[in-house]
Amino acid sequence: MKPYSRITGTGSYLPPRRVTNAELATELAGRGVETSDTWIVERTGIRARHFAAPEVTSSDLALHACRHALEAAGRTPQEIDLIIVATSTPDMVFPSSACILQHKLGIAGCAAFDLQAVCTGFVYAITVADAMIRSGTATRALVVGAEVFSRILDFSDRSTCVLFGDGAGAVVLEASDTPGILASDLHADGSQVGILCVPGTVSGGKVLGDPFLKMDGQAVFKLAVGVLESAARTTLAKAGRTEADIDWLIPHQANIRIMQGTAKRLKLPMHKLVVTVDQHGNTSAASVPLALDAAVRGGQIRKGDTLMLEGVGGGFTWGAVLLDL
Ligand code: ACO
Repeated sequence: MKPYSRITGTGSYLPPRRVTNAELATELAGRGVETSDTWIVERTGIRARHFAAPEVTSSDLALHACRHALEAAGRTPQEIDLIIVATSTPDMVFPSSACILQHKLGIAGCAAFDLQAVCTGFVYAITVADAMIRSGTATRALVVGAEVFSRILDFSDRSTCVLFGDGAGAVVLEASDTPGILASDLHADGSQVGILCVPGTVSGGKVLGDPFLKMDGQAVFKLAVGVLESAARTTLAKAGRTEADIDWLIPHQANIRIMQGTAKRLKLPMHKLVVTVDQHGNTSAASVPLALDAAVRGGQIRKGDTLMLEGVGGGFTWGAVLLDL
């Protein structure tokens, strides 16, 4: 049994329909909802997002991302023995999107399950996969974040509908003789359920309660900056590393001001911050693996770099993972 786990390939996928702030503002104006490119850019840093076509599901987006990750790792689907999909917008109530994805990958038999930690989902999922690999339960995992958040947006609520987008990111995580994942730190505070939620559910043959995303943006903002700093510091301490060892900070891509605030608190120069929120919006569980893959394929992140991945979101949940690529 190998003592560590390591990322051997990354991949991502964005649905082809790209919607700029100006296009969204025009579309919303048709519904009597007023917003502007200036407001969205100044408050969030978002310039565009991608929306999936109505028939496209999270597992469809995940499939493309996984194929790219497998290709990068030089692996075939048949070599995978664990699939974890972090999502809050699964294809069905059940079975899991991970099972649907497994079938689309043309394989059967390996463990597959969804993990629900909203925007912290990928950080939770990679931590679980790392633990399963180090315990010998799995040897080669697909760890995925995939979302179609456009399905749960209330397009009459300008304070939320301009923030989110659709997409998927994936990594192949393999058992390794040398350390990849160095340390992680996961948290949740269920007393904050109400500040970010989709309260509706399916019951008695219909949707019971509100099926749209609700957010107290200012409450989320205040909590996010503090917990992202503390999770990063705890993770560094667990790994016996310091801020100076971080080559790249990849926080959840929700709002550029939260991301810059986190980098500043950790005394990291802004050029170490990976930013894709401007082009992707907030893709929830997909945001961190999407940003990771964009920076790997863009040539910014190189093999051997030390990365701090961070998530924060509904639950309230938050966490961090430090790794050597
Ligand atoms: N266009 C124009 N005006 C708007 C819009 C919009 N899209 N949305 C809100 N406004 C208006 C408001 O109505 C308000 O107007 P008023 O002053 O006349 O009442 C004004 O702008 C200010 O609104 P605030 O909500 O105070 O704006 P704020 O500066 O707090 O920014 C934002 C809002 C961007 C949501 C911010 O609070 C934020 O980013 N919060 C964190 C979100 C986050 O990180 N989420 C991550 C987790 S996501 C997950 O887990 C699924």
